[in-house]
Amino acid sequence: MNPVRSRPGPPTIVIFGASGSLTSRKLIPALFSLHRKGRLPAGTRVLGCARQELGDDRFRDLLEAALREDGVPFDAGAWREFARGLRYAPGDVSSGGSLAAVKRSLDEAGPGGRLYYLALAPWLYDKALGALRDAGLAGPPPGEEEWRRLVIEKPFGDDLESARVLNRIMLQAFGESQVFRIDHYLGKETVQNILVFRFANIMFEPLWNRNLIDHVQITVAESGPVGHRGAYYDGAGVLRDMFQNHLLQLLSLVAMEAPTRFEADAVRNEKVKLLDAVRRLADQDVPRHLVCGQYEGYRAEAGVRKDSRTPTFAAVKLFVDNWRWQGVPFYVRSGKGMERRVSEIVIQLLAPPHNLMKLPSGEAPEANRVSLGIQPDEGVHIRFQTKVPDAGMQVRSSVLAFHFGDQAAGPPPDAYERLLLDALAGDATLFMRQDEIETAWSLIDPLTRFQEAREAPAPQPYPVGSWGPAEADGFIARDGRAWVLESTRPDHGAT
Ligand code: BG6
Repeated sequence: MNPVRSRPGPPTIVIFGASGSLTSRKLIPALFSLHRKGRLPAGTRVLGCARQELGDDRFRDLLEAALREDGVPFDAGAWREFARGLRYAPGDVSSGGSLAAVKRSLDEAGPGGRLYYLALAPWLYDKALGALRDAGLAGPPPGEEEWRRLVIEKPFGDDLESARVLNRIMLQAFGESQVFRIDHYLGKETVQNILVFRFANIMFEPLWNRNLIDHVQITVAESGPVGHRGAYYDGAGVLRDMFQNHLLQLLSLVAMEAPTRFEADAVRNEKVKLLDAVRRLADQDVPRHLVCGQYEGYRAEAGVRKDSRTPTFAAVKLFVDNWRWQGVPFYVRSGKGMERRVSEIVIQLLAPPHNLMKLPSGEAPEANRVSLGIQPDEGVHIRFQTKVPDAGMQVRSSVLAFHFGDQAAGPPPDAYERLLLDALAGDATLFMRQDEIETAWSLIDPLTRFQEAREAPAPQPYPVGSWGPAEADGFIARDGRAWVLESTRPDHGAT
């Protein structure tokens, strides 16, 4: 006979890697903000685990200091309340060490949901999964309301093969429905708004295809350098660090078909279908579709090899081989050390087939453009032609703009708030499924293979504060096009 179990209590979030910067700079601020908004399930506990021998109080003090240092809006009363649910248990997953202290703390908490968050260096993932299994913390949940879920950060592998291996190891410890692979871009309000813009409106859908769209551009530019992450970044480069995840996610949201329901599998099925339709580049085609750059001074960054050929910028031309998008190029670019921080998707429509109106001398007719601003200019711009008043039938280009900031009381919530809440609720819509991750890698592998081959050209240098190497412009100009951005609003910080 089954032993009688007491009713499940509040969930516990167990953070492995609790002494790292992801915990203090992202996870705890997001949880604290959720607590202040009253969005966390009542009594939610957070159990930090790392190698150091710390007590609960010391752990709380360290987190509080980090929050204050980062300028997170602080309210001492709210923090005291939140901190009561913060615990610490030492544990070393790196040397196959035991998680006895974590297990003890969880046993004391009593039955309830468990969210295991791997905020660890990626080379520790398999060790951590082994340790969770050995401690009896992995596997199917012991009861219906006693769920167990695993949240895992990127980078998820560094190519298709390593991602498959990691998936295999993970799925020995947890079922796919228990796994939440994070891409923090999906937690951004403006990224979710791509789906709302496309599927909660009817007026854009008739335009959204090869009949009226000339091409699509996706820009994710960062002005900052690699900073303290040189050692990791130098082994990854922009294609692994940004394209395999964030940029392909933006591409799939902008180009996928409407899901039948707004549910995890329905949405992810469509994303996988789209990624699967992106044309794989044959080795001989890669040079015409890829430009790589490296910002000047990158090799002098801490942790970076002095002769590094790691790209800090890339521009890629992709095609989607399906009925909707056949023949429409998607120009996708991302880099560090760029002129300004801006992420934006531009849908460039075709020009009218016959030009009736007079333009100011020397001006070419402009075609309509829809721009989805991801950050920092969060909103939508629609460019269209208007009559110049009192100037006959002369036309000029005008912009209809919508900005989230005009409606909201404060800055948008950090992406981690939404993702943590969804993981606690078991909603995987904004997380990546096994096949999605692997399909994305299958698109990136030919690019990294080409770029890393011994005979490959070195990435072209570009000055910090520019838009990447000159060839990034040449590459799109050869198709008779140019990079455009509609975002103008200034930066007000990361989301
Ligand atoms: C991370 C990358 O995933 O995304 C970083 O590893 C990058 O290199 C960051 O800086 C960008 O995120 P955001 O939210 O600042 O655009």
